[in-house]
Amino acid sequence: MISQRKDDHVRLAVEQQHGHVGRNQFDEVSFVHHALAGIDRPDVSLATTFAGIAWQVPLYINAMTGGSTKTGEINRDLAIAAQETGVPIASGSMSAYFKDPSCADTFRVIREKNPDGFVLANINATASVEKAQRAVDLLQANALQIHINTAQETVMPEGDRSFSAWVPQIERIAAAVDVPVIVKEVGFGLSRESVLMLANLGVQVADLGGRGGTDFARIENGRRALGDYAFLEGWGQSTAACLLDAQGAGLPVLASGGVRNPLDVARALALGASGVGVSGGFLRTLMDDGVPALIAQISTWLDQLTALMTMLGARTPAELTHCDLLIHGSLRDFCTDRGIETGQYARRSGGFNTLTRMTGSTR
Ligand code: FNR
Repeated sequence: MISQRKDDHVRLAVEQQHGHVGRNQFDEVSFVHHALAGIDRPDVSLATTFAGIAWQVPLYINAMTGGSTKTGEINRDLAIAAQETGVPIASGSMSAYFKDPSCADTFRVIREKNPDGFVLANINATASVEKAQRAVDLLQANALQIHINTAQETVMPEGDRSFSAWVPQIERIAAAVDVPVIVKEVGFGLSRESVLMLANLGVQVADLGGRGGTDFARIENGRRALGDYAFLEGWGQSTAACLLDAQGAGLPVLASGGVRNPLDVARALALGASGVGVSGGFLRTLMDDGVPALIAQISTWLDQLTALMTMLGARTPAELTHCDLLIHGSLRDFCTDRGIETGQYARRSGGFNTLTRMTGSTR
């Protein structure tokens, strides 16, 4: 049953990508253009560090799949793309492996095809500490993701209906495993309150996993005979909103959910993300056009992110957080209601781009 579900998820996620990849709240974030802010491309480094983790690039392939023959092939191809481009890669949920260890190869292939890369194992929040460590060991993983997905489980016909055990279990896992623990949402977003709780539970990183891309309420609803949970489609906070909400909540954050292009990557980094994850968009490229196309897409994104940073005057991903940003529309309304002052984002370069250049000083 699990392997059928994994195949369904891939099919329905790609179908969603084939629909209109529309606007989302990243469109309500724009950089103030400073015409003299540009620097020299060789001065730009994409390297990022957070929670003791060092990545050469701030872009990663986020959790998707494994557990069936077909999804094992997808993991193989994603891992080849990760190896070729140097981006970190996360496994899909490894529950299928705990239920049936004979599918181990469909996950292990991620490490086999990507022996030196940064690999993240992925489990749910009910996994025992022993299973969490087994997941890490199977992949020789560099970090562990725990996904939290109450909205998905609610719509999933065979989903969990009890969530109260997640909090203590996350704390136990975070205390026990020997790699950094990242808790991630799957496209409904982590609120500020959730991030504060995760910090208290001893988790090292929050992956905000917001709305705006793959919608798992829609996917699971597509697996229900009656499709009767249509009203939950679009549930949750966008990734841009989550980034604004989580500022100063005490954890380094990763941004994923609805990242469509290199400008969205730059926007997310400028809103404070230490790294930016993509799932559905990369899956679509792989399924439609194959591994060479995915490798080309990721390489182009990294190239164009470097170009944007050169234009914006950011030598590192962290320096993008000094760029002036305008927050518009419904995202601005969200900020108002959540007590987030948007004006500070519009003026935060402190005149760096003009004045410090004139005086020759650096940031
Ligand atoms: C996912 N996602 C996911 N997340 C997770 O933590 N464990 C998992 O097993 C899966 N499985 C999965 C399958 C497929 C086919 C897709 C497309 C996605 C969620 C994923 O990591 C991410 O949070 C969301 O897809 C939102 O990002 P995008 O797709 O909008 O870039």
